[in-house]
Amino acid sequence: MGKITIAIDGFSSTGKSTIAKQLAKALDYVYVDTGAMYRAVTLFAMRQGFIGGETEDLEGLGNALSGLDLKFVYNKSLGFSEMYLNGENVEKEIRTLPVSQQVSKIATIEKVRVKLVAMQQDMGKKKGVVMDGRDIGTVVFPDAEFKIFMTASPETRASRRYKELLDRGEKVAYEDVLKNVQTRDYIDSHREFSPLRKAEDAIEFDNSDMGLKEQLERIYNFALRKIEGH
Ligand code: DC
Repeated sequence: MGKITIAIDGFSSTGKSTIAKQLAKALDYVYVDTGAMYRAVTLFAMRQGFIGGETEDLEGLGNALSGLDLKFVYNKSLGFSEMYLNGENVEKEIRTLPVSQQVSKIATIEKVRVKLVAMQQDMGKKKGVVMDGRDIGTVVFPDAEFKIFMTASPETRASRRYKELLDRGEKVAYEDVLKNVQTRDYIDSHREFSPLRKAEDAIEFDNSDMGLKEQLERIYNFALRKIEGH
């Protein structure tokens, strides 16, 4: 059977990556977490002092991107790929709140987007990929055969993220997590270059009141129909 491209976009903490990962596994497709790429660039920018200090140099960051090597390396025991920044596994560090608080700003930089979108298009050129992010169905793969746009209320999403961070041992306040979710929603959907929006041909999927099993079942069945009709 021919393989298709599956694009999953939506607001932060809608559970895109959980669904995308499991869907990819069920279909034997490759999963690409594009948010991890923007997060790794953010960590790079923080470490190099382009952001997070007293002054910011977003233009300088744009010019320093040639010194940035991003790679996904498959971890067999986990069953998914992990993000490597200049040879170092940064999977844990890119998920912390300080990175989350800076990442939307970094994702507004045109040079960053151009570089990452080209990498993503290259990773998906053979199809058989489930990619999640904000602009996959609109910019990266506008011709993707199956597009999903995930939504849920900000409070539902903040509670999910809050639990995740606590489970990971981070000391955070729920209010800060909610604020971060709302701020990122705003920046992600109002930025100049490829803002977050639902592609016209995407299926909108609100999972505020839906368990993971039901979501996966529904989306998997949708995907099978798209693959069969392809
Ligand atoms: O999916 P995530 O929460 O890990 O993404 C982190 C940030 O990266 C998100 O706030 C916006 C940005 N992003 C983006 O602009 N475009 C993408 N395709 C993926 C993520």
